[in-house]
Amino acid sequence: MAPVIGVFDSGIGGLSVLRALRATLPAAHYHYLADNAWAPYGEREAASLRERLAALVRAWRADSALDLLVLACNSATAVAIDALRREHPDLPIVGIEPAVRPALGLTRSGHVGVLATRATLQSPRYHALRDACLASAGPGLQIHDHAADGLADAIERNDETAMNALCRSHLQALLGHAPSIDTLVLGCTHYPLVDAAWRAAWAEPLRLVDPAEAVARRAASLLGPLPGNDAQAALRWRCTGGTEVLSQAAQRWLGLERAAVQRLTLGD
Ligand code: DGL
Repeated sequence: MAPVIGVFDSGIGGLSVLRALRATLPAAHYHYLADNAWAPYGEREAASLRERLAALVRAWRADSALDLLVLACNSATAVAIDALRREHPDLPIVGIEPAVRPALGLTRSGHVGVLATRATLQSPRYHALRDACLASAGPGLQIHDHAADGLADAIERNDETAMNALCRSHLQALLGHAPSIDTLVLGCTHYPLVDAAWRAAWAEPLRLVDPAEAVARRAASLLGPLPGNDAQAALRWRCTGGTEVLSQAAQRWLGLERAAVQRLTLGD
């Protein structure tokens, strides 16, 4: 039997990770959950996000037998992965974090920009990652963080004008303060969905770093070899809010047929 991989995000951002997972593990089954009733996560407080995620993962596991959970959300990983791993020791959980280490290996100027949500950038987990990467990267390298407020929400609403304007204004704010940045970490899973807007927003070529493929490789290494991919891989969609956004986004970003999305209720 092909394993079932749960893929979680606050909304449609996790589709950028699902895309990489399906390319790496085409034979797996995927259950996607978007907590769009609560999105965006990035400007919410850590303790309430932790509580929310604990309730969601309990409800989800009662509803679906998951073999592996991918937290395809930097904000959820930053605030809740440790607590979720403690509560579910039988479930392997893969998180996603801003790809600071690969970016430090790629930069030529020595200046790396990190765009992420406030929840991610303020978390002790991100600070520890950043400090560890800088300590092992050697002298002269610098990381410049910037919270791209409002952008995940604009992507969620599919508001093209707002997305383009926010990509421009956030890059101006970040590069205005650190013009030597040549490598940009996309530290929120919504941001790779507007790859073209990032490229159009800045005249100089910037290297964009997205850890989705590394996450997919990590999931593959935890699952081990899978049966051949002759079986039709199943996709199942759940969300906590309106179903239309996820259904349209799956079509738009992954080229999938209109997905039948069902509501997951938390019993609250
Ligand atoms: N896509 C999520 C992340 O990677 C959350 C964005 C949001 O809901 O603010 O952080």
